[in-house]
Amino acid sequence: MFIPDISGRSGPKYLALADAFAEAIESSELKAQTKLPPQRILSYRLGVTVGTVTRAYQELEHRGLVSPKVGSGTYVKDRQSETRTFYHPVSSKHGIDLAICRPLLINQQQHLSRTLQDLSLEPIAQRAVLDYCSAEGLQGHNQTLQHWLGQRFNSDIDSRRLLWTYGGQHGLSVLIQALTRPKETILVEGLCYPEFLHSCQQSERKLVPIRLDEQGIIPEDLELHCQRHKPRLLYLTPAIQNPTGVCLSDSRRLRVIEICRRHQVLIIEDDVLYCPPAHRRTPLVAIAPDITLFVGSFSKYFSGGLRVGYLIMPLSLSLPMQKSLRASCMHVSPLMIDLVCRWLTNGAMDAVDQEIDTELKARHRILQQIFSGAGQGAVPGFNVWLPLPEPLSGQPLSRQLQQEEVHVREAEMFAVDHYPVPAAIRISLTGPTSRSQLKTGLEIIQAHIESASEQSL
Ligand SMILES: Cc1ncc(COP(=O)(O)O)c(C=O)c1O
Repeated sequence: MFIPDISGRSGPKYLALADAFAEAIESSELKAQTKLPPQRILSYRLGVTVGTVTRAYQELEHRGLVSPKVGSGTYVKDRQSETRTFYHPVSSKHGIDLAICRPLLINQQQHLSRTLQDLSLEPIAQRAVLDYCSAEGLQGHNQTLQHWLGQRFNSDIDSRRLLWTYGGQHGLSVLIQALTRPKETILVEGLCYPEFLHSCQQSERKLVPIRLDEQGIIPEDLELHCQRHKPRLLYLTPAIQNPTGVCLSDSRRLRVIEICRRHQVLIIEDDVLYCPPAHRRTPLVAIAPDITLFVGSFSKYFSGGLRVGYLIMPLSLSLPMQKSLRASCMHVSPLMIDLVCRWLTNGAMDAVDQEIDTELKARHRILQQIFSGAGQGAVPGFNVWLPLPEPLSGQPLSRQLQQEEVHVREAEMFAVDHYPVPAAIRISLTGPTSRSQLKTGLEIIQAHIESASEQSL
């Protein structure tokens, strides 16, 4: 009988229980037509009241995941047959996906459902979101973002410095198009977010890697390449480096800003990856707003599918940035922005942030049970960088794991140009839809590493 693990989940018990069942259903651990445990037995096993279990089952029914059969109990619905034709992904990986860095979907579905109901009763809002608008967007939306960012960064941001985008990736490509020309050089971290590299390659920008250590990029190497290449842009992930998870130290932040200012280099601060609240620091854009372009997104903080993000730029660059945005998409869909703004103001975004933080901590505990000490010195975010013992290296291990349908990202995917590739893989703790699937995936990886180490002895 499936008894869910509700330890470490915040909020009302019935919701924690419903969430744990929902995860198991989404990950197919609980298959269609499976009967849920009888309510009395579950209440006894978990030490909660029968009322709590009843409410949890009602919640699951409300989410369309289970249905009661009179006199027989509650069963997992066969949603495959209901959704196969329309809502099934066109292509998806089989097995356990520790490669994709996706947001943890906890209560976002309820927020979406409520917000769409609210919107359905507001004709003025409906007309506004159905119409074209300018690249700058709608006033109320911009003020909402301005207010939210002001609180988050503890500083005032002129709303004319903000631009909505279709997520972080779109923001990055708008920026590259606005600020550089083909063949121009962009400096990047030696191990870098691969889609940024692809975007630059597609538009024929030249990339030069800067050396990294456990505190982030090395200022002396930055200085050297600024002198040598006279670049226009430096691309960084200072809060939580992708892929290593390292946070750029405070002293390095100041050195990087000083060097960039002296060489007239603009900094792209990519802040898309989820950073747990306890690890958030003052962003570069708050310290050096005149030379920093901040790329934000709600993809990892709420939902990747909505494709909503934003840029914060120096006021002097707002015109070229607006032109670049118009060239790429005219403007971002006000409907998507409207949903996000409602969650920014009604507390849903903050609540989801807390829920993600709690679930992520539980997933890091599972990681530590299997790989004790993994990720030490890094920010405990969605991804974990796992250095490999000799004779292993990233790509062959990743291929072996694929044969067992466990997917990870090898270090080779992140290395820029001829940058030396460390023997490592990147594991996403949020890729698996349930904790138990995560545990199984990590155990398979550990078994492979152990057997390779033993063979080499
Ligand atoms: C560092 C970094 N920047 C940008 C993105 C793209 O974010 P979005 O999904 O909002 O386009 C990602 C996605 O994984 C990322 O890891």
